[in-house]
Amino acid sequence: MKNSSFKTKSVREGQHSSNEQEHSTAIFLTSSFRFDTAEQAAERFDSNKGNIYSRFTNPTVESFQNKLAALEGAEKCQATASGMSAIFATIMTILKPGEHMVASRSMFGTTIVLLNNIIAKFGIKVTFVDLPDLDAWKKSVQKNTKLFLLETPSNPLGEVVNIKQLSTISKKNDIILAVDNCIMTPALQRPLSLGADLVLHSATKYIDGQGRCLAGAVAGKGSIIDEISSFTRSTGPTLSAFNAWVVLKGLETLSLRIKEHSESAMKLANWLESQAFVDKVYYIGLQNHPHHETAKKQQTGYGGIVSFEVKGGKKEAFRLINNTKMISITANLGDAKTTITHPSTTTHVRLTDEEKRQSCISENLVRISVGLENIEDIIADLKP
Ligand SMILES: Cc1ncc(COP(=O)(O)O)c(C=O)c1O
Repeated sequence: MKNSSFKTKSVREGQHSSNEQEHSTAIFLTSSFRFDTAEQAAERFDSNKGNIYSRFTNPTVESFQNKLAALEGAEKCQATASGMSAIFATIMTILKPGEHMVASRSMFGTTIVLLNNIIAKFGIKVTFVDLPDLDAWKKSVQKNTKLFLLETPSNPLGEVVNIKQLSTISKKNDIILAVDNCIMTPALQRPLSLGADLVLHSATKYIDGQGRCLAGAVAGKGSIIDEISSFTRSTGPTLSAFNAWVVLKGLETLSLRIKEHSESAMKLANWLESQAFVDKVYYIGLQNHPHHETAKKQQTGYGGIVSFEVKGGKKEAFRLINNTKMISITANLGDAKTTITHPSTTTHVRLTDEEKRQSCISENLVRISVGLENIEDIIADLKP
């Protein structure tokens, strides 16, 4: 499979076959694995090779890990119960009390809460910088900086950083560069090939693609993933076999779905730009997006997230959301169904007013995750 195309790998990689010769990967719903003898049990515990217990390893989870690693071009992958547990496990593995990390200001709201309220309790210091500002990343480096953490493009505004240029700063200073690739997926962007050390995922989003379950993953250098795996096996945020099967199946259709999401999002962004009720549209596929050129260099498409500011404030944003009949009012994204949300009062509600201001999460901002329905029907549902 090594030289196969992305599309072929997404369908064929990571297949685990049992003696039943099933064509679709089986779900191994078992908490533990049986040993033939006490000697075999002792040998497995001693060598850490072979299945013991599903908190450590599970064949269905391993199939998902192998497929995602192949798609991201990673040496190894560790699946987790959610995107947040992938981020938490990464931070807790890489940093010790007294050490320092740098994070982009424009990240998913719960990631900011994790950094401010939980990570801080472990004596880990965080400096926030503007995502695209390479100079700010450089200036924020301290002697004890161990991790750069970011999302590119960011959610919901689609800010972008040049990953290659940022990786020259991280490499020079011996800092691990971790990129949350949830919005692009490996179908549109492969951060490891651009110099990142780790790629993080909320597989809950486009990897599942149908809003069915929570899942997460971190992929990258084998030595770092081994350490993250030993963190997850001892602390427990491992992925269930059932959810691993769901996201494994999701990966098989990822290329097709992401192409359709991207094409419809472009059409929606163009339509929104011509509407009198819209003040500003944020979509990285639009040439007037300030980070369009950088995105074009490192992405092969622009994805399905379109955000826009309505004329007025919160009242007008709520009115528009409440007017929709087909589109689902829900904070999830990456679903086959189009979803609409008001970031300031949902995904980013725990941010202070100052943090919202710094991240440009305004009261009149609306985010749409463009689904797989006919784009004409999506547009019709948004007409005032
Ligand atoms: C960019 C990004 N990263 C991480 C997460 C967290 O993922 P999960 O909900 O699977 O924990 C989200 C969730 O919306 C997200 O949008």
